Amino acid sequence: MASAATRAVLFGLSQNNAFFIGPVRLIGNDFMMTSIEQPTSTWIPGPILGIETSCDETAASVLAADGAVLSNIITSQHAVHQRFGGVVPELASRAHIESIENISAEALQQAGLAWTDLTGIAVTQGPGLAGALLVGVNYAKALAYALNIPVVGVSHLEGHIASAWLQYPAFPLPCVVLVVSGGHTHLYYKESSGRCRLLGSTRDDAAGEAFDKGAQLLGLEYPGGPAIDRLARHGNPDTITFPRSYLNKGSLDFSFSGLKTALLYTLQAIHEKSRAAQAADFAAGYQEAIVAVLVDKAFAAVRSSGARALAVVGGVSANSRLRALLQQRATSESLALSLPPLAYCTDNAAMIAAAGRQALRAGLRASLDIDAQASLSCSFGLSGSSGLSG
Ligand code: KG4
Ligand code: ZN
Repeated sequence: MASAATRAVLFGLSQNNAFFIGPVRLIGNDFMMTSIEQPTSTWIPGPILGIETSCDETAASVLAADGAVLSNIITSQHAVHQRFGGVVPELASRAHIESIENISAEALQQAGLAWTDLTGIAVTQGPGLAGALLVGVNYAKALAYALNIPVVGVSHLEGHIASAWLQYPAFPLPCVVLVVSGGHTHLYYKESSGRCRLLGSTRDDAAGEAFDKGAQLLGLEYPGGPAIDRLARHGNPDTITFPRSYLNKGSLDFSFSGLKTALLYTLQAIHEKSRAAQAADFAAGYQEAIVAVLVDKAFAAVRSSGARALAVVGGVSANSRLRALLQQRATSESLALSLPPLAYCTDNAAMIAAAGRQALRAGLRASLDIDAQASLSCSFGLSGSSGLSG
């Protein structure tokens, strides 16, 4: 039943994207609740399907009524994009279309549920690659229509933030959240109400971008972050040191573009043979320059905000050196630290389902006219959500 509706939408029989759910309002640096087209109604908590297709991972996850993760299926397209050194949007969309149905069915099967057990669907609405997002959004709409259940569009960023509570539902608020991914390096103060306030962000490259570009300069494979992480374990971070950009005193903003340039010039200045011989030291020194700044600024934010807890989320939070430094510092400063398990760091659908669950519990839902929004800043769940209550 669901697959027929899905195919209809994916293959263009329903291309009426005339209007969006109400616009997301970003006021100052605060996330604000958006207005929505559909009237709110009571949602009786039950299993939710989360869908994520914003970039090069096709992911589906089922959460139980109480928010427990019943399944978390991720297919990576790394093999598709590897030879191009980065994500090719057209190929990404195609790969999502090919796998979304199987991935969703697998998520349901692993959860031990039938399609008709679902009570809601959460899908990444943006930001991300437009064509890739469209696949997930259209699939989610088709399913919601076929099953007659509500659908909510979730900001990818909001999903990453929600991942901090997947494993630790009782993690305290208020807290500081550092989102470090391929597209974001953002520090937030998350209030007891669940509302997020931006404390700082990158002025140029995101931390994940710095890893990916550095890896490219070092001749490593895509994606660069994990490749640098692996190679750096064999190197000495003090042999070749790179500049650390702290910007103005007290600033909670980041800047990584100078670091990449420094690596380029250093590599150009030495012979190819020495480059190869010292590759691990280069990786270790470069990685250290990124993670040291991330750790220092995250803890500075905790200090200056008066919070006693720190959550670090997003693909870069999978970095082994970053995790070790954060754990050391949190222990020495007696702070609560949420570092999600690796499966929840890089893109996944459990985090999207978790953020969507908060929105559904708050009575929010989107109309079937929701569309992908490649440059979405946030979505309604962030500020108006019911916070973390289970
Ligand atoms: O959150 P994510 O999967 O996708 C985005 O929302 O961007 O993050 C992907 C980023 C990539 O830049 C990737 O190189 C980086 O996370 N990354 C890592 C590691 N694993 C993934 N960076 C450093 N060390 C890692 N182990
Ligand atoms: Zn992400």
